Amino acid sequence: MNFKKINAQDISFFEKNFPNRCFYDADSIKEYGHDETEDLNFPPDVVLKPENTLEVSEIMKYCFENNICVTPAGARTGLSGGMLPIFGGVLLSMEKFNKILDIDEKNHQVTTEPGVITQVLQNTVKEKGLFYPPDPASKGSCFIGGNVSENSGGPKAVKYGVTKDYVLNLEIVLPNGEIMWTGANVIKNATGYNLTQLITGSEGTLAIITKIVLRLIPHPTQDLLMLVPFYDAQKACEAVAAIFQAGITPSGLEFMERDAILWTLPYEPETVIEVKDSHQAHLLIEVDGFDQEVLMKECEKIMDVLANFDTYEILFAENQAQKDQLWKLRRKVGEAVKSHSIYKEEDTVVPRFALPKCLEAVKTIGAKYGFKSVCYGHAGDGNLHVNIIKGDLSDDFWDNELSKAIAEIFVEVIKMGGTISGEHGIGLVQKPYMPLAFSEVQLNLMREIKKVFDTKGILNPGKIF
Ligand code: LAC
Ligand code: ZN
Repeated sequence: MNFKKINAQDISFFEKNFPNRCFYDADSIKEYGHDETEDLNFPPDVVLKPENTLEVSEIMKYCFENNICVTPAGARTGLSGGMLPIFGGVLLSMEKFNKILDIDEKNHQVTTEPGVITQVLQNTVKEKGLFYPPDPASKGSCFIGGNVSENSGGPKAVKYGVTKDYVLNLEIVLPNGEIMWTGANVIKNATGYNLTQLITGSEGTLAIITKIVLRLIPHPTQDLLMLVPFYDAQKACEAVAAIFQAGITPSGLEFMERDAILWTLPYEPETVIEVKDSHQAHLLIEVDGFDQEVLMKECEKIMDVLANFDTYEILFAENQAQKDQLWKLRRKVGEAVKSHSIYKEEDTVVPRFALPKCLEAVKTIGAKYGFKSVCYGHAGDGNLHVNIIKGDLSDDFWDNELSKAIAEIFVEVIKMGGTISGEHGIGLVQKPYMPLAFSEVQLNLMREIKKVFDTKGILNPGKIF
């Protein structure tokens, strides 16, 4: 790609127009050169921190005219390298867009800036009895704008859907600096192409999101949580679809393979759970609603189902503190597994019933290529996070052979009716595998859409395809 390299004149323009919000010292560019994806780091030439939509527009106009590439970033918690400024240029941090603008209780909606931490947004609307369900593991640090850009999921998606199911309308800045809204603040909208949903999940490649209108629902008042040990990981996966077939939709149904839980426990020493040598996997199952008796009955039904799957003693969380601990443990798995070794994380997703087959394929391919994997994730969604562990594997295998094994896993997953990312996005690291999921015709259609929004290709270049 042929972008203009940022020079002293550009820097003086940025410094003059964005005083104290323009950084190009070594520490800043290193810090803003990474997210949570492996150990990748691509320092930008300059970091800009605009404060409002007009400033974003001003930056985009300047960069558009001067052919400077721009990569937008949120809290940089992404797992597919979507915000890595791989061609340098401007890193546009949205961290100053940190205000919740309006909670519309009459319409169950919230209008927010993109740099609000997801959990802060959730807690703020909860004070009004309202619920914004999508809750990625990083909810305590990720930004809602990043969630919209990646169409994030999380444990609650199994009952409540993913980020896109809540996005009603977006204020965006196009790569040429034009400002527009994508839709209207309504639940139903059959008016023209759905630009709102096109921008959602577009990984910052089509426009910069500056305001977000989200749908909310009444906050459930009750929940029950159980942790179920299994002697066989396959059986744990089989139990997942059976629970739904019994007519229950849990509000969380998470799978953790033996090592996922064992490697995480040292990071959460307060969590007291018994993992016997024979326990190969756990399911964490939550039901929620408004009536405790109904939830108790649902749990009984779940236990009836589980009776067919050879489980050890089920742990019921007795109080809020225990529930919080179990969820904390689950949310920590990704980080804990990654601290163990160099790794690669895949985000496979299959139709729920195919989950046991998916796990089997991962393990069979692992055995064939000689790698260990630690699997966990949102079993109720068929969304299995596969952490491939480098351990003692040679650099040569890691750099040259592993991608073949990953491609084999993806081919199997696609055969099962699944795809290569459920919630982490394609970004940079999954890009090579896109031709497995899409034909050239499909990819070209996406490339043409990109061109319509971004005629010069300056926005988040080199991502997705
Ligand atoms: C999780 C993140 C990695 O589920 O998606 O923990
Ligand atoms: Zn996840």
